Amino acid sequence: MERALFIPLILGTAREGRQSENVARFVFEQTKKRADVETELIDVRELPMKLDDAGEQMKDPKFSATIERCDGLIIVTPEYNHGYPGLLKHALDMNLKEYIHKAVGICGVSAGPFGGARVIEGLLPVMRELGLVAIFEDVNFGNVAKIFDDEGNLLDQNYVRRLDKFLNELVWMARVLRHGRENIPGA
Ligand SMILES: Cc1cc2nc3c(=O)[nH]c(=O)nc-3n(C[C@H](O)[C@H](O)[C@H](O)COP(=O)(O)O)c2cc1C
Repeated sequence: MERALFIPLILGTAREGRQSENVARFVFEQTKKRADVETELIDVRELPMKLDDAGEQMKDPKFSATIERCDGLIIVTPEYNHGYPGLLKHALDMNLKEYIHKAVGICGVSAGPFGGARVIEGLLPVMRELGLVAIFEDVNFGNVAKIFDDEGNLLDQNYVRRLDKFLNELVWMARVLRHGRENIPGA
């Protein structure tokens, strides 16, 4: 048996009342169900970040070790004025070489109908610069307030199937890249 892939999830907003937390919890629980995947929820609220610094200078040993160990990443991000939350970028910038040749999939969250399609497109150049390899499946959680009830339970079961498709692709890419990192010289 191949060892399990480690694919943590980053929740990219610290906003009071964030709806993206419901999405992150749903994605986390579904990912945990996979026998071939180990996961962990990284909440940007919990990361020790300073406002008067940036980048690897404020590297956190625990966060760095998690990204170093991972085979792939899931980012759950809301769309803020058609872009990504500054705090998510601030957090991602804390690491660098830890990301190289790892798979990434992005779930977008928005109050509007497009499910964060614009924030996902905006994040892609950042993913590339970090050395992450973005998959071509996304999950778009549009009109997010209607997808979960007040307790955070999923109301629209279509998201189970959509997320499954996304995770299948992410697992495939993570497996391919792990094979590459471990077996193909020159990386
Ligand atoms: C600063 C800010 C900017 C926002 N900009 C957009 C936007 O461009 N498009 C959109 O559909 N929703 C926008 N929203 C609404 C969020 O998409 C909405 O709050 C949604 O629930 C996801 O974000 P949350 O996790 O912070 O709740 C914005 C919210 C905030 C706080």
